[in-house]
Amino acid sequence: MSKKTVLLIPRKLSKNSEARAAEDYDVRLNPEDRLYSPEELLEKCQGVDAILPCHSELFTSDLVSRLPDRVKIIANHSVGVDHCDLAALQARGIVVTNTPEVLSDATAEIAMLLLLGAARRASEGDGMVRTGKWAHWSPSFMVGTQVTSKRIGIVGMGRVGQVMARRARGFDMEVHYNNRNRLPPDLEQGAIYHEDVDKLLAVSDFLSLHCPATPETTGLLSEEKLKLLPDGAIVVNTARGALIDEAALIAALRSGKISAAGLDVFAHEPGGNPEFASLSNIFMLPHIGSATFETRDAMGFRALDNLDAFFSGKEPRDRVA
Ligand code: DGY
Repeated sequence: MSKKTVLLIPRKLSKNSEARAAEDYDVRLNPEDRLYSPEELLEKCQGVDAILPCHSELFTSDLVSRLPDRVKIIANHSVGVDHCDLAALQARGIVVTNTPEVLSDATAEIAMLLLLGAARRASEGDGMVRTGKWAHWSPSFMVGTQVTSKRIGIVGMGRVGQVMARRARGFDMEVHYNNRNRLPPDLEQGAIYHEDVDKLLAVSDFLSLHCPATPETTGLLSEEKLKLLPDGAIVVNTARGALIDEAALIAALRSGKISAAGLDVFAHEPGGNPEFASLSNIFMLPHIGSATFETRDAMGFRALDNLDAFFSGKEPRDRVA
C-alpha cells in the first residue's frame, strides 16, 4: 500500500488503530464520531479507495449503486456483515472483509454477563440499591434462577458460540447446540448436537444466540419457537436483534413462559425497544459485546491487515465477498 491510498474511516476507532492507519494510508477520519446519514456517507466516499466502516454504516443496494468507481474495498470493523448488501457489492466488484475471531472472547464475556444477570436479577437488584429502595431482606427476597448444572442451548456454534460453550462448562452447564454443520469432536468437546433447532429449544433452560443475521435466521426466535422452550427458560442475545421477534418475546416475558432475558442487541439500534424498559425481567446492554480496549485494537488491526493484504495484491484473509 502507499500513503496515496485514501482510506475513509467513518467512525472513531481505537487510538492505536487510527495511528496505525495514519502511518500507512491517507486517512479521512471522523473525530467527532458522528453517525453519517447515507447521503453524507456517500459524500465522504468521494475520492476514496477504501472504506473501513462499522456495523453502523449501512451499505444498502441503493447506496452501493451510488458508490464512486474508485472505491475498491470495504474492510469492515465487525464480524457481522448484515449491514452490507453483499450481492450488490459483489456486483460492483467491491471486495468485502470482516473481523472474525478477535472479538469472540469479549462477546462471550458479555453473553455470560447477560446470562448471569438475567438469571440472578442483576438489573432489578442494582436499581434497588442504587435508588435507595432496598428496605427489606428475607429468604424469599429477590430469588432468581441458579445457573450451575443447567442446560444451555447455543444456536450458532461458530467462534463466539464455542467460547460461550467453554465459559458455560465453567459453570458445569450441559452444552447443547445447533449449527449448520456438526463440529468435529475436538471442537464439540462433548456438546450435544441437535440438527433440528426445535429439538435444541426443547432442552434449553438457557438459550444463547450466536448466529449471524441472514434471511434464513431473521425472526428465528418467533412466537412459535419461544413456545418450544422449557417453561421459565432464559434467553440471551449478543448476536443481532433481527434474530428475535421482539413483540413475541415481550409477550413471553409478561406471561412468565420466559422467565428472563439478557439482551445486548435489538431490532432498532441505537435506542433499543422502549417496551422492554417496562419489564423488570430483562437485563439490557447497548450493543457492547466487543467493546473492550483489547478487542477494539484487535478489530482495528485485523481490518487494517485485510486492507494491507488487498493493496499489496494479496487475497485478504477475511474476505466475505
Ligand atoms: C460485530 O462485530 O458484528 C459486532 O456486533 C460489533 O459491530
